[in-house]
Amino acid sequence: MAQPKLKELKIGESFTGFYLVESKRARQTREGGFFIDLDLRDVSGTLNGKIWEDFERYQEEFERGDIVKLEGIVESYRDQAQVRVKRIRKARAEDRIDYSLIIPSTRQDVNQMVAEIREIISRVKNPYLQKLLELYWNDEGFMEKLKTGPAARNLHHSYLGGLLEHIWHMLKIAHLLAGEIYPALDYDLIITGAFLHDLGKIDELNSFPVPSYTRAGYLEGHIILGLKSFQEKVSLISDFPGELKLHLEHIILSHHGEKEWGSPVLPATSEAMLIHFIDNLDAKLAMIEEAIERDWNQNEEFTGWHPILERHIYKRRVKDIKTEGDDEL
Ligand SMILES: [Fe+2]
Ligand SMILES: [Fe+2]
Repeated sequence: MAQPKLKELKIGESFTGFYLVESKRARQTREGGFFIDLDLRDVSGTLNGKIWEDFERYQEEFERGDIVKLEGIVESYRDQAQVRVKRIRKARAEDRIDYSLIIPSTRQDVNQMVAEIREIISRVKNPYLQKLLELYWNDEGFMEKLKTGPAARNLHHSYLGGLLEHIWHMLKIAHLLAGEIYPALDYDLIITGAFLHDLGKIDELNSFPVPSYTRAGYLEGHIILGLKSFQEKVSLISDFPGELKLHLEHIILSHHGEKEWGSPVLPATSEAMLIHFIDNLDAKLAMIEEAIERDWNQNEEFTGWHPILERHIYKRRVKDIKTEGDDEL
């Protein structure tokens, strides 16, 4: 069976396919009846759906995070596409699902990213930082999680391998800025800090099949979790200098840059400031790209409201305008 892509469905189209249930909520109509409100996801994007009938049966049938087989029709509700679900059941082993069509993952070559990260961190000369990076690198369980983890539940890089991609980008930018543009800054500290800054996400998020917070993720968050795992690793290295440890702790704690963005302290060193800005840059550019890719309304020039960036994103690229011969500007 061909698997219809959510983003390509048209109003009025009936379809059957396998999708990930990204969220599921029981809700009540004004008349007092219950229905299920759910967000479906595949590699092409997300689409909201409603189950109006058989509430109790379907409440039991599947959960958030399940892959389901679904039969539905696309309807228009307040100018937005919405799926009216006719039938839905949890996917079974015999369905032999092709996960690559459903669960978004990085488009980059994972081994290539790992090799490039390795290349950059191998330039770190400080022997204590070298030892620290080796401890992470030789931790097989950690590396496995690093290769597949998402960087967020839905903010940016929220797909398998997203955390690796974010760290890879950060290291490449950090290498350039610290190595070429700001040679007075501490290269070793910046590279190590860029590698470490979000590693708490490995304990904050479960990756499969849909990024979701772990209990520790909800209760502590990745900044504290990252600080704890860093302190654990450092305790294995004898005579690790206290001042160096403090600098790295500061980078982890301050990388969100603002208290209202979850950092308990503001960046107070040049290295911490640089890491905050490249983190912010990489996250925001990824948010824009992901918002455009996921936007269902292909005929609109702007995406829907982006709750984090607090704006609509303009989707047309200069190259698209030129090829259409459109000189409306
Ligand atoms: Fe972070
Ligand atoms: Fe980050």
